[in-house]
Amino acid sequence: MRPVKLKQGRPACNAMHSIAGRGVIERFREFLPPCKGVVSLGEGDTPLVFSPKLSARVGRGCEVFVKNEGLNPTGSFKDRGMTVAVSRAIDRGARTLICASTGNTSASAAAYAARAGMPCAVVLPAGKIATGKLIQAVAHGAKIIPIDGNFDDALRIVRELGEEKDFAIVNSINPDRIAGQKTAAFEIIDELGDAPDFHLLPVGNAGNITAYWAGYREYRHCGKSKTLPAMIGFQAAGAAPIFHNRVIENPETIASAIRIGNPASWKHARAAMDESKGAIDVVSDEEILAAQSWLASKEGIFVEPASAASIAGLVKWADKIRDQSRIVCTVTGHGLKDPDAVLRNIGKLEPVPAKIDKVRRALGF
Ligand code: F0G
Repeated sequence: MRPVKLKQGRPACNAMHSIAGRGVIERFREFLPPCKGVVSLGEGDTPLVFSPKLSARVGRGCEVFVKNEGLNPTGSFKDRGMTVAVSRAIDRGARTLICASTGNTSASAAAYAARAGMPCAVVLPAGKIATGKLIQAVAHGAKIIPIDGNFDDALRIVRELGEEKDFAIVNSINPDRIAGQKTAAFEIIDELGDAPDFHLLPVGNAGNITAYWAGYREYRHCGKSKTLPAMIGFQAAGAAPIFHNRVIENPETIASAIRIGNPASWKHARAAMDESKGAIDVVSDEEILAAQSWLASKEGIFVEPASAASIAGLVKWADKIRDQSRIVCTVTGHGLKDPDAVLRNIGKLEPVPAKIDKVRRALGF
């Protein structure tokens, strides 16, 4: 454990005090755009977990690490970008935060808005948000606007509203979000001593792959790493506009977080894959659910379906990866956010009488 030291008399935003070293702004300030006040919930510094079983599955001396971003304060990687976007929106005098979301951005925006004492509005595709994420937005007091449309429609509306000066957009079209999210690449290099050979991650609106690539390049430019990874992005087969190189009008996938047909950072993602000699590929819903279940039951890491796209992708790509490679898979959100797919598999749990012999028999002993 790092020693925790309370900062003395340094007023952050709205009289908030952060603890030294916690949160990505405190830790990586020199690499981030200037923030006067800091709205932080202690995001970042997530575990990079060595996975012996995934390493064995790939074989040939490869080492696989899982960057578990579900352990951020609101349970997803969005918090890294949100701390920067919200802190800077306040610096600029914004009055209301607004975002479109498939769920996690809205949960994160709502939490950071609550922390800052600011109103937050979230525009969501009606009926398409995982239960846990919707609950988060409600609990944090966001104004929720469900629309009859998909994420791409929601983002179009939010872009227009963002032209009115009252609203600050906190989607990843805001460069402050990308700046914050690139810190995940910094942490990986700080821990491994260099960049991995391959970095695999799910792709939806394509902000995160853009952010990681920016982070890897920036750290190498500063001499903190010698190499750059090949960035391999995975889209869900029914929501794969970058892979097919065309807008998908009605994207469909069980991985609701990445049900996106027209990603905002499409060009940047393409550049990341081309410059890094990486690739974009697809994984089916069946492969995603199998990977989610495998990771939870074999490695003890429970992630939401969209996050499992990177693991499903690794399984699909295992033979294409060079011997002795170091591989990082980002898992982007916590499994508890989207319990529906797992709940469907539980079936009916019949209670047994509260007697030791009955319990023993139920256990099969
Ligand atoms: N994984 C999860 C769990 C996500 O919530 C998202 C995006 C992604 C992966 C893809 O990241 O968009 O940067 O390519 N969620 C957004 C949202 C769209 O509204 O919460 P990306």
